[in-house]
Amino acid sequence: MRVRERLLSSERVVVLTGAGVSAESGVPTFRGEGGLWRDFRPEDLATPQAFKRDPVLVWEWYDWRRERVASARPNPAHYAIAEIEKRLSGGTARAAKTGEKRARHGGPPGKSFTLITQNVDGLHSLAGSVNILEIHGSIWRVRCLGCGRETVNRDVPIKMLPHCACGGVLRPAVVWFGEALPQAVIEAAFGASSGADFMLVAGTSGVVEPAASLALRAKERGAFVAEINTGRTPLSGMADATLHGKAGEILPGLL
Ligand code: OAD
Repeated sequence: MRVRERLLSSERVVVLTGAGVSAESGVPTFRGEGGLWRDFRPEDLATPQAFKRDPVLVWEWYDWRRERVASARPNPAHYAIAEIEKRLSGGTARAAKTGEKRARHGGPPGKSFTLITQNVDGLHSLAGSVNILEIHGSIWRVRCLGCGRETVNRDVPIKMLPHCACGGVLRPAVVWFGEALPQAVIEAAFGASSGADFMLVAGTSGVVEPAASLALRAKERGAFVAEINTGRTPLSGMADATLHGKAGEILPGLL
């Protein structure tokens, strides 16, 4: 398969994932079938304005998502992505991050791997991926609107309305529409995309920035871009290869 050969012979690989990669784990996507919660679009709820207007409603939505994520386990797509990292780093996924174990494991020198995910569910880490840029944050972290402190909170269900020890209201520590992405994370994501020679875009509708721009940047700088999706997206036209189908079925076949 052309994509498989490309992947295995590439040196700087970036995988960009979206909600479709977790769909087979039972985590609802944001758009398309099963994506709507009580008829709200994500753009109606995932905003600072929506939270200001009705924080309980927004928390109810996140509570619903957190409940699903809590019982979800990684699927073959997550494991295949972790395995790609492991192979490129010569033995352990952690070596991709540190670079130090290449010699010891006899892995390929000079190869790099970066996973950029829009997913906030943490399933990539559970599957063993290490060098991950979670550009939209984590569903298990909360931030106080009063003191600004960010902490881990795994309560399911979460107490409505959750409050910080300082008395301030807690919000999910995820990036909402209209908010800036963490500077260091987004710089790293554009850096990796600019230097990639292979980018795999999996399970994202490609309609939310910067995901689309990351893929375009990689393409502009000469990367081979492959897309895996059950449907067509605005990125399909520019991709060098589009593999139609479920990520959990296609990704393991690339190894
Ligand atoms: P979306 O829900 O917008 O898109 C999911 C994509 O995955 C669609 O293109 C589907 O066709 C595809 N898909 C579904 N099941 C699949 C499967 N089994 N295998 C492969 N593809 C599949 O999710 P994202 O693109 O991640 O942000 O959405 C981007 C952002 O919009 C999210 O991070 C979230 C949302 O609002 C915020 O909350 C800020």
